[in-house]
Amino acid sequence: MARACGVRLLALESVDSTNDEARRLIEMGERGPLWVVAARQTGGRGRLGRQWISPPGNLHASLILRDFAEAAVAPQLGFVAGVAALSALRAATGGAGRFALKWPNDLLLDGAKLGGILLENVSAPTGDARAPVAAVAIIGIGVNCAEAPLDLPFEARTLASIGPSAPDSATLFARLSDAFVETLDLWRGGDGFALIRDAWLKDAAYLGAHIRVELPRETVEGRFETIDAIGRLVLTTHNGARAVEAGDVSLGPRQTAAGGVA
Ligand code: BTN
Repeated sequence: MARACGVRLLALESVDSTNDEARRLIEMGERGPLWVVAARQTGGRGRLGRQWISPPGNLHASLILRDFAEAAVAPQLGFVAGVAALSALRAATGGAGRFALKWPNDLLLDGAKLGGILLENVSAPTGDARAPVAAVAIIGIGVNCAEAPLDLPFEARTLASIGPSAPDSATLFARLSDAFVETLDLWRGGDGFALIRDAWLKDAAYLGAHIRVELPRETVEGRFETIDAIGRLVLTTHNGARAVEAGDVSLGPRQTAAGGVA
């Protein structure tokens, strides 16, 4: 279906990072929609400058997309990607596995990290003197289909762990590219973000729970209430409502050295 809708595919055996390859292609004039998929990445990147271990058997895919009116709505594409990825995981596994979305961009299986989304934007020339540059989005998605790193500060899981109904990365990608077409239709270049937000919240991990968000200079704690109209996480803290734009979320209050809670 994705191909019939004009979405092209560049399939590579090995690349440093599909997001980096997508950026190079944009710099050479590519405007998408185009999927860049690689069997393995030698320099896979995660959020916040982290490394993303990318062995053969896992899914590594980046979508180049220019189909939205203004750069301001581009951050919503992380939520579009989360909704599409969950829909693809459910379709590809026949409903086996308990999948969830962890704000902002994690895919969970049974509460452990299964995959993640790395959303980046490039300002690209348009050739139009009235609007000389336009945002082009790179939506990178990685799923631990076959292997998951063991040495992380949090638990990670493979899709293979669900048993015989686990799809391989090619089958999952076919579902993902179709689910993306459907989810982008729902999003309508930003006009349908309310629908995406509702769908995302239905599968949100920790909603209503006491969470901790590590920000660059502080840690915020409180009850996870919702995400707002621009995708920020909204918490009720001791000092009232607080909306945060980026950070690492974990469950529960901070543990003190003495074994109590802070
Ligand atoms: C995260 O959870 O930190 C985001 C991980 C994103 C990994 C994907 S794999 C495909 C694309 N290419 C990359 O280098 N990163 C993303």
